[in-house]
Amino acid sequence: MRALVLAGGRGTRLRPITHTSAKQLVPVANKPVLFYGLESLRAAGITEVGIVVSDPREMLQPDHRSGELVTVLVNSQAEIRAAVGDGSAFGLRVTYIEQEAPLGLAHAVKIARPYLEDEPFVMYLGDNLIRDGITPFVREFEREKPNAQILLAHVATPGDFGVAELEGDRVVRLEEKPKHPKSDLALVGVYLFDRTVFEAVAAIRPSRRGELEITDAIQHLITGGKRVRSHVIEGWWKDTGRVEDLLEANRIILADLATRIEGSVDGETVMEGSVSIGPGTTITRSRLRGPLIIGAGARITDSYVGPFSAIADGVTLTHCEIEHSIVLARSRIENVPHRIESSLIGRDVVVASRDERPRAHRLMLGDSSRVELS
Ligand code: G1P
Repeated sequence: MRALVLAGGRGTRLRPITHTSAKQLVPVANKPVLFYGLESLRAAGITEVGIVVSDPREMLQPDHRSGELVTVLVNSQAEIRAAVGDGSAFGLRVTYIEQEAPLGLAHAVKIARPYLEDEPFVMYLGDNLIRDGITPFVREFEREKPNAQILLAHVATPGDFGVAELEGDRVVRLEEKPKHPKSDLALVGVYLFDRTVFEAVAAIRPSRRGELEITDAIQHLITGGKRVRSHVIEGWWKDTGRVEDLLEANRIILADLATRIEGSVDGETVMEGSVSIGPGTTITRSRLRGPLIIGAGARITDSYVGPFSAIADGVTLTHCEIEHSIVLARSRIENVPHRIESSLIGRDVVVASRDERPRAHRLMLGDSSRVELS
């Protein structure tokens, strides 16, 4: 059995983070979302993995120093290749498959056919996180040998997903992001297929959003009388497409965190709950209330870091309070009078207050940034 992992796509709901980075590499508890998926494939005994990546694209962005708009080449593909490499760090053999444009999940299956060689496979969307892994679903598929097996989860906003309509436990109809959902059962981004899916992806036409939808391909299998099994998952699942979902994923993963202190913590710092601190990090006169994780080479001074925070490598926090947030590498937060919470802060970001007149907010924000002040 092989795996096809999808790591392309535009990540529009996570802009501006995804202007410069792949959405699958945004970290949850300081580890890229994609890595959780790769680990769960390995845990299910799968070692041959094809990762679908998209081409680089050009974007206009404000220059770091001058603020002028400059054209930058955003290459999330290179970033994914650099992060995952040949897969050996995960015990996998990874092959990269280039998709010339994000033309849909079913299009990805189509172009991956030569790699998949008609073997049964798991398709795993790289921004999906399933806390308890996928091993039972893979075993069920191997045992029952249906043509396709889908995973479903009860959600509050089914219109944001592919939605399944069941009769008993038989899937009768699937619809992609319906205006009037027939149930609250969303399609989870993990699918198992045998070779019949290739006929289906060849038969369907692009949807209203111009993509070849995997949901339509599975519907085609159902209409054609093929065996499509479904499994409603009990455990926790998240599509980390939006900030709120990433923060929730961070919360769930950090809840199981064990205390581990590799950096140095001074005598005036107070720590409560489970706290993980990476090597080379120094904590001075601060209060850390877990569960929280701080990466390597960070510097936390006269600050409060509260529950469900993930602070990446090389971050500096001085005279500030932060809680329930994700801060990416090398960012600096200094002298901020109000507590920062429920925030996602990118790489190399500076948030600082200055004691200057006039007292004003001075902002230099990239496209699609979001600031909420109170
Ligand atoms: C895709 C699928 C959708 C599925 C979702 C799960 O949506 O099209 O059916 O429910 O993944 O993550 P997308 O995230 O591409 O909008």
